[in-house]
Amino acid sequence: MRILVTGGAGFIGSAVVRLAVARGHEVVNLDALTYAANLANVADAAQSGRYVFEHADIRDRSALDRILARHRPDWIMHLAAESHVDRSIDGPDAFVQTNVIGTFNLLEAARAHWTREGRPDSFRFHHISTDEVFGSLGATGQFTETTPYDPRSPYSASKAGSDHLVRAWAETYGLPVVLTNCSNNYGPYHFPEKLVPVVILKALAGQPIPVYGDGGNVRDWLYVEDHADALLLVVERGQAGRSYNIGGENEARNIDLVRTICAHMDELHPQGAPHARLITFVADRPGHDRRYAIDPSRIRTELGWRPSVTLEEGLRRTVDWYLANRDWWQPLLEREGVGRRLGTG
Ligand code: NAD
Ligand code: DAU
Repeated sequence: MRILVTGGAGFIGSAVVRLAVARGHEVVNLDALTYAANLANVADAAQSGRYVFEHADIRDRSALDRILARHRPDWIMHLAAESHVDRSIDGPDAFVQTNVIGTFNLLEAARAHWTREGRPDSFRFHHISTDEVFGSLGATGQFTETTPYDPRSPYSASKAGSDHLVRAWAETYGLPVVLTNCSNNYGPYHFPEKLVPVVILKALAGQPIPVYGDGGNVRDWLYVEDHADALLLVVERGQAGRSYNIGGENEARNIDLVRTICAHMDELHPQGAPHARLITFVADRPGHDRRYAIDPSRIRTELGWRPSVTLEEGLRRTVDWYLANRDWWQPLLEREGVGRRLGTG
């Protein structure tokens, strides 16, 4: 298939690009190259004859029309977004512009493209979203596909808005869409402003490891390559009009996750051990969602998907990867906002 991937220079988008190219698909990577992007993430895929890069912004409708007319994709996988909750607290504008208006532009460009192609049933607009649209859980329960939306940060509200637009385009115009709502990803090429790489790189530098609030917030962790595998399965075999929750069934309190990473660091980089002595509790994130947990029954029973990497194994691989790839992450530490506390409100 020819797949247009938006946000393919980011963390998850690049994992999708790498896997899709490896599986023989043709990929058009459309990305605006914001602070979060890195074309090094797809350097190997770019060597194949099945990869094209389009430097474009989803806020630019005419650019989207030109690119769709030029490449005539069979499927669109939409991952381009502003993705960091802390940045959404400091500057919500970009989140509304890219996540809401940008998704609207892409839907309209996709609808025009699909109509020109004769409205094929096999076309897919796959919208990649987040479990954060469902809000915050108490001590028990899990998000299912029918959990009511209750976003609580500018980021999650903008993603919820984009999900609603996508559903409306399916109902009103018949556009064949699928949606996925996934939990926290981690793994190689994770931009060093998110929790897992922050912990690894602060530990490596011997600097305080910031844990927000009491460290009791719970996230449900999924190795990024398992997510990419689930996304390709949904775009290929998911039922049009349907959404699928994706999660690793790996719930962990932040403080426990941080301690596990420190233990891997002690083993793989013994200089500076014990790294857990660097853990520092800092002011909480405003509106900090307490707990996320995904019920992945639908994707498991309907499509037969299961994650292949345990949290323990995935964290170990991730620590290994960062220790071996300083050339990848060192330049990113110079990017605006990286390494300092964001989103204190
Ligand atoms: P990321 O921030 O690493 O990458 C986002 C990419 O989108 C970057 O390459 C950036 O340049 C591009 N982009 C941003 N604005 C753009 C614009 N206006 N036009 C074109 N390109 C633009 O994000 P990520 O963590 O890889 O997340 C990808 C998607 O998955 C997002 O939609 C996010 O909401 C969703 N998601 C992320 C997670 C997670 O844990 N990271 C979990 C569930 C869902
Ligand atoms: O749940 C899916 C979401 O996961 C995605 O939609 C988002 O795009 C992605 O960024 C991620 O959001 P989180 O806010 O959960 O991820 P983050 O890595 O920013 O924070 C994870 C948890 O760790 C959260 O409870 C806040 C806490 N935290 C984060 C940082 C950066 C810390 O305690 N210290 C930190 O330095």
